Parts: sequence; C-alpha cells; structure tokens
Amino acid sequence: MEDKKYKRYLITSALPYANGPIHIGHMAGVYVPSDIYVRYLRAKKRDVIHICGSDEHGVAITMRAKKEGTTPQAIIDKYHQLNKKAFEDFGISFDIYSRTSCQTHTETSQEIFKTLYNNNKFIEKTSQQYYDTEANQFLADRYITGTCPHCGNTNAYGDQCEKCGSALDPTDLIEPKSAISGSKPVLKETKHWYMPLDQYQTFLEDWILNNHKEWKTNVYGQCKSWLDTGLQPRAVSRDLDWGIPVPVDGAKGKVLYVWFDAPIGYISFTKQLRPNDWQLYWKDKETKLVHFIGKDNIVFHCIVFPAILSAEGTYILPENVPANEFLNLENDKISTSRNWAVWLHEYNQDFPGKQDVLRYVLTANAPETKDNDFTWKDFQQRNNNELVAVLGNFVNRSLVLTGKYFDYIVPEPGNLTDNDKETLAQIAGIRKETENSLENYRFREALNNAMALARLGNKYITEQEPWKVYKTDKQRTAAIIYVTLQITANIASLFAPFLPTTSNKLKQWLNVDNLIDWDKIGEQEAIKPGHKINKPGLLFEQITDEQVQAQIDKLNKTKAENQIQAFKPAEQKADVTFDDFSKMDIRVCTIINAEKVAKTTKLLKLTVDTGIDTRTVVSGIAEYYNPEQLAGRQILMIVNLQPRKIKGIESRGMILCAQDADNTLHFVAPETVLKNGAEVK
Ligand code: 2FM
Ligand code: ZN
Repeated sequence: MEDKKYKRYLITSALPYANGPIHIGHMAGVYVPSDIYVRYLRAKKRDVIHICGSDEHGVAITMRAKKEGTTPQAIIDKYHQLNKKAFEDFGISFDIYSRTSCQTHTETSQEIFKTLYNNNKFIEKTSQQYYDTEANQFLADRYITGTCPHCGNTNAYGDQCEKCGSALDPTDLIEPKSAISGSKPVLKETKHWYMPLDQYQTFLEDWILNNHKEWKTNVYGQCKSWLDTGLQPRAVSRDLDWGIPVPVDGAKGKVLYVWFDAPIGYISFTKQLRPNDWQLYWKDKETKLVHFIGKDNIVFHCIVFPAILSAEGTYILPENVPANEFLNLENDKISTSRNWAVWLHEYNQDFPGKQDVLRYVLTANAPETKDNDFTWKDFQQRNNNELVAVLGNFVNRSLVLTGKYFDYIVPEPGNLTDNDKETLAQIAGIRKETENSLENYRFREALNNAMALARLGNKYITEQEPWKVYKTDKQRTAAIIYVTLQITANIASLFAPFLPTTSNKLKQWLNVDNLIDWDKIGEQEAIKPGHKINKPGLLFEQITDEQVQAQIDKLNKTKAENQIQAFKPAEQKADVTFDDFSKMDIRVCTIINAEKVAKTTKLLKLTVDTGIDTRTVVSGIAEYYNPEQLAGRQILMIVNLQPRKIKGIESRGMILCAQDADNTLHFVAPETVLKNGAEVK
C-alpha cells in the first residue's frame, strides 16, 4: 500500500501565472489535492516540503500589462501579492510561496541553461518568424492573430485556435495580424536554441510507458499520445523583452522560454527554503518527487521538464504527476477573460471562516478522471446535507451530550458491549482505506472513506439513543458517550488533511494539545476517561438560499455584462423597395389589457386599441414585461400583418420591439403621446 522506501518527499504545486487571480478551477485541479496530500504526509510524520510560487514570465503577463495599460512588473507585483494572500487566507500550507522574478531563480535557470549549452544538449536553429515592422519586434505566438485554416475562426492565435482547439504554427494562420500594432507581420530570420526532444523519445517511452503504468489514466494517456505522435525539437528561447536573458554570447534580445524557466522555479524555491540541504530533495534517489498540476500542464511536466532534467544529469525525476482535468462553473468553461469564475479571494471575503466547506465540495466533486461542474446549488446541498447533517450533527450530539450528562468529563465506560467493541474496531479499517486512497491520489474516494467514520458515528448514536437510555441507565449512557467521544477524537485526526480548520476546532473543543497520530487512528484509546473537554460551538452552519442566490446573481450579472460587451449588431438585411416598405401599415396604438397566455412562459395576450378598432394580439414579451403594468402603454404595431393563430388565440398584428445585447426586448414607442391610429411613415 504505502511506499516505505522514500526518506523524504518533495511536493510541488503548479506555479500560477501572476497575471490574474486564483479561481476554484485552480483550487480543485491542483492546490486542494496537493494540500491534502502534504498534510497527510505531515500527519504521517514524513519529511516533506511543499513548493509553490508565482510564474512571472511569458507572453501572458506582457499581454495583460498591455491590455491594462501598465507594465509587466506592476502586473506581477499586484497578482503575486493577491494570490499569495488568498492562498494564506484559505489555509493552503505551502512551505514557500516565492516568485520567478527573484534573483535565485534567474541564477538557477541560467545555470541549468549553461550546463546544457556547454554539454551540447541543445541544437541551434535559424528559422523564419513573424516580425512587426511598426513595433520593431518579433511576435510571440500569442501576439499574432488570424484566421484558423481549419474552422475559419477569424480570431485564432498563433499557437492555437480556441474555437476548434487545433494546435497551430503562426505561419498556418490566414491573414496574420500583429496584436501589438494591428499591422501585417513579415517573416524574418531569427536564431533559437532547441531541446531536441526527439532524442529523448526512447528514454521517455521507457520511463513513462513501461515504468509508470500506475500513473492516472488521463496522464498516461496524454503522454502516450504525445509519444505515439513522435516528439519534435522545441525552442527553449524567445525573442521577447520580458524574461530571463539567455546567458550566452550572441543572444541579445532573447530570453528563456517561460516553460523552460517555470518548472526550474521548483528548484530555485527549494534552494531558498533549504539553502543548506536543497540538494537532498532534488538529487537523492530516496526523495519522492510529485508534481501536482492541471491537465494543460501535462506535456511540460511529463515530457519537456524530465528531458531537461535528464539532460542535466544530476536531478531526480518525478515519481508521479497526478494531474486533474478541468472544473466548469454552472455548466460553462471557467474563463479569466470573461470573468466567469469563483475567485478565491472573493470566496474568502464572502464566506469568512468557511474554507473547509469549499475544500470539501471541491474534493467531493474533484475533476479527477473527467471534467466536472461546480454549481452553487450543489455547494449548498453538500454543505447542508453532508457537512451539517452528517459530520456536524454527529460531533455536535457527541459533545453536547457529554456536557449534558457528564459535565464535559469523558465518562468511565464500564463494560462495553460487543456492538460497542465492533464499532470501535471499524475505525482502524476506515483509516487504512482512507490512507490507501490518499497514497494513490484518489482524493474523492479518500474523503468518502473518511466520511464513513462520521456515518458510523451517526448510525451508532442514532441506534443507541443515549437520550432515552439516560432516563433509566446512567452507566450504559456512559459507555455510549465514551464510544462517541472516541469516534469524535479519531475524526479530528482523520479529517485533518481534508478539513484542517474543522480539525483544529475539534482539537480545541476536545481540549487536547495534540490529536492522536495518524497511524494510531483506531489503534488506541483516543481520549481518556476523566479528561475534561470544552463547551463546543457549531461545527458547520446551514448555507441559506439567500447566500446561494447572491452568488448566482453575481454570475448572472457577469453573464449579462459579457453579452453586452460581445454585442455586435446583426448584419444589414438585403435592400427593400420603397413600395415594399409602404405596404407595411404601422400605427401608434395603446394597450388596454394584458394577461399571460396559460401554460406558456413567453407569451402575453394583449388587447390593443389601434384607433381603427380594438383587437387581440399575442406577443412574446412575457419575460420582459409584467402584464399588470402594461395597460395604458403606447406602442407601435404593424396592423396589417396577416392574422395568425398562436396557442389557439387569433393574433392580429405585431408589436415592434428592439432587442438589446442581453437579448431583452423593449417596446419602441412614440416620444410623446399621440392619437391611437397615427401612422408611422
Ligand atoms: O499553466 C500555468 O498556470 C503555468 N503557469 C504553470 C507553470 S507550472 C511550473 F512549471 F512552473
Ligand atoms: Zn479553428
């Protein structure tokens, strides 16, 4: 089950770009699972360090700065601070959260580049790349847009079409355009250093496909697909003015490619954390290195970085890379640019003290094997039906009844029944199953296994009914409460990796300096008779409909804003003759009465005074107008449209409306009150 052969653990979490805030997709994909894993290892008293920090180079940062009209430095400073604090407030337990703009990192990256360069591990290639003659600079892939040759999307990037997902080379684009000046770029020769990944094909095939068959199927599958396609040399430098300078002669204006330096950040930050013995973590075979990442980072962590490390020759390779798939939000892809996300720093503000609720929901619904969806309704239900109703309810009953019957002192159990003993005997088994899931990076399963202990406690206390037994048998009540307190104390330890704030609360209420060791869960008496506990509070609170609605409203507002921003007027229709126009009889009319059409959501039945007559019109405006407020409104209507039957009602005319960017309909009306029947000409 667990591997005893490792002396120490080096756990890395993907370095987030410092160009935007952290959202729940990042948390579910990387930081919640990595934090559970390191907390578990610490609970097992393993030697473990958890490394993370901001990824501060690359085109994404320079583009963001351009968009915001500021400098890359201002962008990274802003988001580094914001994200560092959001992680801290949320309780992610990194041992270091550094940044790739620091000196140690520049030196480490340049050293590794030079080692590879001096040992002829790179190939140098001159190629034609797009150059913006107005801005006087080469254009990185993301700085070129154009039409996708596969699907015709006119906004495809030089490296990828986000509409059809095709990977592209900038020269594939039809009608390429510089994102900096808007001009047409020209091709110009430039020299770069390439990592000849093709030379590592056999090594990587053997290392991954033969020797790491245990990797998650999504990770193994993606690696296999890259390897089956055949690896190609990849440039490790770029023509850019933001990044770590390439440290060799003849490289003026060139920086290291962000995906060359970013993973080296794990090494630089380990040096900062452990200046004296960092090499033990990176160069000793008895260290287990695990990279926690999202699925878009798989190729860099499983193929490119291992090739670089093995070319360098003195570093260990990752033992596992348990990458997750993506989390969607309310059935839509999370997107920073569309502001479609739940941002971690906003969650911390909106739900203070409720870090564990989000940890729980993101773990229970983690996108471990496929993309998953986060919804606020599910968040509420899992909190109310699982955390409050199962875990909180059991713990609360156990502690409150101890106060009520035994003045907060753990009672002497006297004789335990066979059922009591069997209940207690199940605890160790639950711990072992949880552990087995954790060792195999199956965090949803691990949480579900841990919840089995809360379910066991709930079942036990419900069946034993100490509140009834107490009336006739105080000694038996003591035994029951003793058992529930043992379960409670074991819960505090078992849940520590998953729900650290909750575990801490329990520690305080149980009034203990230390929780029992992970390995002792279910193996010994967890809390002793005679020990005085504290008065408990509530472990979890209900999440109300209003709280959930406020979050949904926030998202709906974003959606409406996005629609407005994306609004493009429809194309003009084909010309009509003046005669065509004159055939339409448009009049000023007044609505006399309005009511909903039964069994429909969109239709209103209107009685309208046209000046000519009074007639019935059915109109699809029920979502935008309250029928009670329509009587007396003047509108414009085509009165000579052929009558049509709609839901069995004869409709004689069409009310004119304009459709806004958010698809809402609005009446078009005269700017002052006119006589009904006045013609529109
Ligand atoms: O995808 C990303 O957000 C990258 N910044 C992850 C880098 S992980 C590591 F290589 F630094
Ligand atoms: Zn496309």
